[in-house]
Amino acid sequence: MQIRRCAVVFIEPRERLDFDLSLLVAGGTGVEMVREWIALAAHQDDEILLDADQVIALGTLSPEQWIEFEDACKTVPREQLDGLIANGLLVSDDAIHSKLREQDEQVRASHWRGFSAALHRHTRWHAIDTLEAERRFGSETDRPFLDRLGPPESIVQERVESAQRIRLVPAPDTELEKLIRQRVTCRNWDISRPLSAEDLANTLYRAFAARAVSDEPGITVMKRAVPSAGGLHPTEAYLLVQNVEGMTSGLYHYHPIDHALEPLGDVAADESAALALRMVAGQRHFMHAHVVIALASRFRRTFWKYRNHAKAYRAVILDAGHLSQMLYLAATERGLAAFITAAVNERDIEEIFGLDSMLEGVLAVSGFGWRGERVAEVEFDPLGNVWPKS
Ligand SMILES: Cc1cc2nc3c(=O)[nH]c(=O)nc-3n(C[C@H](O)[C@H](O)[C@H](O)COP(=O)(O)O)c2cc1C
Repeated sequence: MQIRRCAVVFIEPRERLDFDLSLLVAGGTGVEMVREWIALAAHQDDEILLDADQVIALGTLSPEQWIEFEDACKTVPREQLDGLIANGLLVSDDAIHSKLREQDEQVRASHWRGFSAALHRHTRWHAIDTLEAERRFGSETDRPFLDRLGPPESIVQERVESAQRIRLVPAPDTELEKLIRQRVTCRNWDISRPLSAEDLANTLYRAFAARAVSDEPGITVMKRAVPSAGGLHPTEAYLLVQNVEGMTSGLYHYHPIDHALEPLGDVAADESAALALRMVAGQRHFMHAHVVIALASRFRRTFWKYRNHAKAYRAVILDAGHLSQMLYLAATERGLAAFITAAVNERDIEEIFGLDSMLEGVLAVSGFGWRGERVAEVEFDPLGNVWPKS
């Protein structure tokens, strides 16, 4: 059997609080600080606890060159190698380790920058309920929010005295300005009013459709409403359609060149909101949006050009942000409303749409629909454009 180290692994020296009853019985607080080595690898979801010897052992093996297991045993104790193979930080060519080896090979073939790959893999959530966590956190302390956090950073970074500032003329009150002022993140939906097929099509077109496709020598690129690093447009829209006239609620993928929906499976109407809730990590205020959209980026499209690039992952995240703002404006123009959230259960969404985290990763969830008539959940509308002040 041949082995080598996985392509990307970072070791975090972590300290955590642990409760030990025996310490309490001995007259202490019962709390002790535990220091441990945690391995975060790009090819698997689990965080792996290591001992100090394993950390050193891992560092002695090459991530590139395969070595016979028996030869490796000459420099690293056999039981340490066994442990590192069992937890997948060493990959082997043995068939019983094929799944982890394939996952590792996929990371190698995708031109991820190491840091970015580990960051992406280990910041994905599974089955998190943020509202529940917030409630629990709130119930654990009776100190008010501001008291707990202290004051925030100032609203503006002022670098010179007021008198030194060169005042600029305000932008005129054009249609664009009115649209911008009308944009308010929606957290209240009118579930009694389905979205028309035209509203759906129009909003998707504005936000995601290709306006043109050009064949550069050897690479096809599209022109969208928003810019994209290298013009590569890696970000796909995966829809959970919940409440659109004439459409079965279900999962769809948007095709930006054909301006068409690709059906990926029906969802029973009475299960749809629960699915949406799972996607947005328990944020009840988004679960009834008429259309919920997972923005998932095909990393290899961008990393094809920006290989192992320090900025590539950031560029892909920015891409999703641009699309979201376009979606907000497109929805707002039609009298609809939109939202975006980064507090999402990426791993659940991958499962729902059949995505591979390192090839087509979820970066945010957006959505749109009709706004409700009552503010049950707070929206930020200080101008009173959406919710007129009484
Ligand atoms: C990257 C990003 C993540 C966000 N995540 C959440 C979220 O998890 N939950 C939520 O209710 N709103 C979320 N929002 C919406 C913001 O709360 C909202 O933009 C902010 O309150 C300002 O309101 P406005 O969009 O109406 O101007 C997010 C916005 C952005 C840009």
